[in-house]
Amino acid sequence: MDFNAENLKKLRPLSGDGSKLYIETYGCQMNVSDSEVVLSILQRDGYRYTERIDEADVILVNTCSVRDNAEQRVLGRLREFKPYKRRKKALLVGVIGCMAERMKEQLMEREQLVDIVAGPDSYRDLPRLLRQAGDGSRSVNVLLSQEETYAEIAPVRLDKNGVSAFISIMRGCNNMCSYCVVPYTRGAERSRDPRTILREARELFDAGYREVTLLGQNVNSYRWEQDGHSTGFAALLDAVAGIDPLLRVRFSTSHPKDLSDEVLHVMARRENLCRAIHLPAQSGSTRMLELMNRKYTREWYLGRIAAIRRILPDCALSTDLIAGFCTETDADHRDTLSLMREVGYEFAFMFKYSERPNTKAARHFADDVPDEVKTARLTEIIDLQNELSLQSNRRDVGRTFEVLIEGVSKRSDDRLFGRTSQNKVVVFDRGDRRIGEYATVRITDCSSATLIGELL
Ligand code: 5AD
Ligand code: SF4
Repeated sequence: MDFNAENLKKLRPLSGDGSKLYIETYGCQMNVSDSEVVLSILQRDGYRYTERIDEADVILVNTCSVRDNAEQRVLGRLREFKPYKRRKKALLVGVIGCMAERMKEQLMEREQLVDIVAGPDSYRDLPRLLRQAGDGSRSVNVLLSQEETYAEIAPVRLDKNGVSAFISIMRGCNNMCSYCVVPYTRGAERSRDPRTILREARELFDAGYREVTLLGQNVNSYRWEQDGHSTGFAALLDAVAGIDPLLRVRFSTSHPKDLSDEVLHVMARRENLCRAIHLPAQSGSTRMLELMNRKYTREWYLGRIAAIRRILPDCALSTDLIAGFCTETDADHRDTLSLMREVGYEFAFMFKYSERPNTKAARHFADDVPDEVKTARLTEIIDLQNELSLQSNRRDVGRTFEVLIEGVSKRSDDRLFGRTSQNKVVVFDRGDRRIGEYATVRITDCSSATLIGELL
């Protein structure tokens, strides 16, 4: 007998065999996208998705290692699964994602809480790992790959709005920012075959989706080479945007050193490429940027901002900032505040520096900014960003925007919410409008987080 996949299936029923799978996702958008790939792989193997943890036969936790508090939260959460395990002896708990990669041994040693550990490149192996764990031996696969992109796997969408979806276009990171654990947990950078990306985007559009976000740790270094032909990020973006003018396209994350004018010109040409760029600065001090191994200076970063302003005058800007990196002085911190003012960010993700084991910073620099100082600086950064967001929103009052409707407002069934091309949330009275449609909305009021509008 030929032992191909079909024949193997005949020999043995699908290992999932109707078992119920519950997934909890922590961390970045890439993890959300990965959970959708995991669900696809396991559904094919006979598992059924459930949103109810109390009926689960398998619990998977997709985890993040970027900061210590993210890891602590998951470790606490794993303890909360104990009673479920007590009630259902056959229940399997798996830790997948970045923590699996970084903490394999520790996880396996933890009070019998974890049965499976699978790193970001071993999700195709989950059916086997689960089978093995079901037979009573604990299972680990944390091999990283140079090639894995899960290119042809059609993710099962976990978001329920049916309007916007993530498409992963590359994996891993080669940048080696000195504070960052991602290159160690997600491995080397590799790009996904553009044909599979386009197919996925088109299928989403045909299924009614109206917005896709192309995801990667550093999307601007996307590159696919085949038969002497090379596709870079600008060409990929252009092709995805070409699927239909009604399909909005976003992308994240851009590394400032790789954001090219070519990409900005493609955006300017295509209105459905959204006017929002996430360009993590991390710090406004050139001395810090050097220690962080970011490979640009404050001036160079501001030069990229100037190019965006010139080519895309209506583009919103957001950033990531780290407070209290090794040796950061008050003067360095003030450079960050002045950079924020100079750019006038619409939005920011702001963090205290958290030392990650084995990174370059952990090995070579002392984590020497006291926690109280980190906290005080972070508070100043957050307060300033709230001010900047409010100023930006106030400038929008009286203007009119095309809003893609994503859902019903949490506060009131009579109101809908959606986003502008600039990625700002707008809430407005529903009228006769429906989720997934575009609406023209005039902004009448705002807070620092939300725009309030009326249908035109
Ligand atoms: N400590 C604090 N923030 C970090 N980030 C990455 N590593 C660390 C760390 N060790 C932040 C960066 C990055 C975002 C995803 O997380 O700002 O852009
Ligand atoms: Fe981490 Fe830098 Fe790569 Fe982003 S670009 S994932 S911060 S190493």
